[in-house]
Amino acid sequence: MNRLIKNGTIITANDTFHADIRIQNEKISEIAACLKPKTGEEVLDAKNNYVFPGGIDPHVHLDMPFMGTTSADDFESGTRSAAAGGTTSVIDFAIQEKGQTLKETLEIWRKKAVPKALIDFSHHVAITDYNDYIEKEIPEVIKNGFKSFKCFMAYKGALMVDDSQLFRIIEQTKKHKALLTIHCENGDIVALLQKNFIAGDCTSPKYHPLSRPAIIEGEATGRAFNLARYLEWPVYIVHMTCEESVSRLISARAKGQLVFGETCIQYLLLDDSVYEKPNFEGAKFVMSPPIRKKKDQDYLWSALKLGHLSVVSTDHCPFDFKKKKEMGKNNFCLIPNGAPIVQHRLNLLYTYGVLTKKINLNRFVELGSTNAAKLFGMYPTKGTITVGSDADLSIFNPKPEWTISAKNHFHNCDYALFEGWKVTGEFAEVLSRGETIFKNGKAFGKPGRGKYLVRKSFE
Ligand code: URP
Ligand code: ZN
Ligand code: ZN
Repeated sequence: MNRLIKNGTIITANDTFHADIRIQNEKISEIAACLKPKTGEEVLDAKNNYVFPGGIDPHVHLDMPFMGTTSADDFESGTRSAAAGGTTSVIDFAIQEKGQTLKETLEIWRKKAVPKALIDFSHHVAITDYNDYIEKEIPEVIKNGFKSFKCFMAYKGALMVDDSQLFRIIEQTKKHKALLTIHCENGDIVALLQKNFIAGDCTSPKYHPLSRPAIIEGEATGRAFNLARYLEWPVYIVHMTCEESVSRLISARAKGQLVFGETCIQYLLLDDSVYEKPNFEGAKFVMSPPIRKKKDQDYLWSALKLGHLSVVSTDHCPFDFKKKKEMGKNNFCLIPNGAPIVQHRLNLLYTYGVLTKKINLNRFVELGSTNAAKLFGMYPTKGTITVGSDADLSIFNPKPEWTISAKNHFHNCDYALFEGWKVTGEFAEVLSRGETIFKNGKAFGKPGRGKYLVRKSFE
């Protein structure tokens, strides 16, 4: 479908300018002022609107078996929600089960994703059971386009790897030019603290953050950086929440170590008072690492502003409040960890980041799209607006004000994490490879239209 977007203000990570965008065969073919429509070309008017590159959320968990249940959004509802919030690519996690090969793991996740995805997608390959056989599989996995891996330093007895496994996996990413993403919390200490709280009859959601204190996130982050430093290869730390971990990122970078950090929108906007909510409602906010203190929010915003953190993602991993979060009614350790967020990331970042002048529009694009594209081998096909890029674009009307609610979200979840929050600006139309997948509040696009992203090596 050939189309022409006219009269918009184009925002990239580097530039802000007025121009028209011609789209041919799913790609951007021309960018210039006052382009004339060609025969058969459909014109989209973006007057008074911004045109952003499609958002990229490199941290979502769709259809993920976890803590005795499965995350509520599959690849259809999850990618539809992403599209409604201006996100046109996601990176999910193909999570190895104990005893599984990586080939088997990727086949399972391929079957979940391919028939359902509405936007383009990939997986980080999460290794939970590392051994010599898995090590031999790594080059093949990378050859097939999966250029990033994941390790959990937490969730003892389930997803957690030990330090020697972590060390060996970083070694392999160096050998084969891939990037390892790491969940940093000291899983041994979390397990110990959880046991102590439950033994003392401290079972409600407010003990979740107390069992996963900031200091043990900081400790694990420092440990991961030390291993990476010894091995002289970068790592990417997911969902950084607090001063204790981000200060380690800043000092590692100051010493010249190439390491990257991501935070999530919820850690920028919420504080740990959410765990005090009555009627077990604190369970809605049970995720790991937990929501931290107000001072940590301020620290994260300044780390974003100063360029220390590279990405704002969501860690989208929803579970219904009724029946699912309620599994932990008598024991906070059994509350499935995670929350519904992917649809609201960019609206929240725009309202509470750009409009409050904490970040400017170009940094908004960089944090919500461009940096993830660069780090995970998708740039410049994704993550920017230039001739030759995929026509993944959003037309954003900065004026309307609306309120986030489970009543108006696309998430397959019975609550909204940001219920009642007011936001300014809405995604009027969202294009994935030139095709409209969201417009005026309605989602379009056939399940299965999303393509597997074949990503480039980490250089
Ligand atoms: O609570 C969370 N974050 N759930 C998803 C799994 C993870 O740790 O990323
Ligand atoms: Zn995690
Ligand atoms: Zn996650």
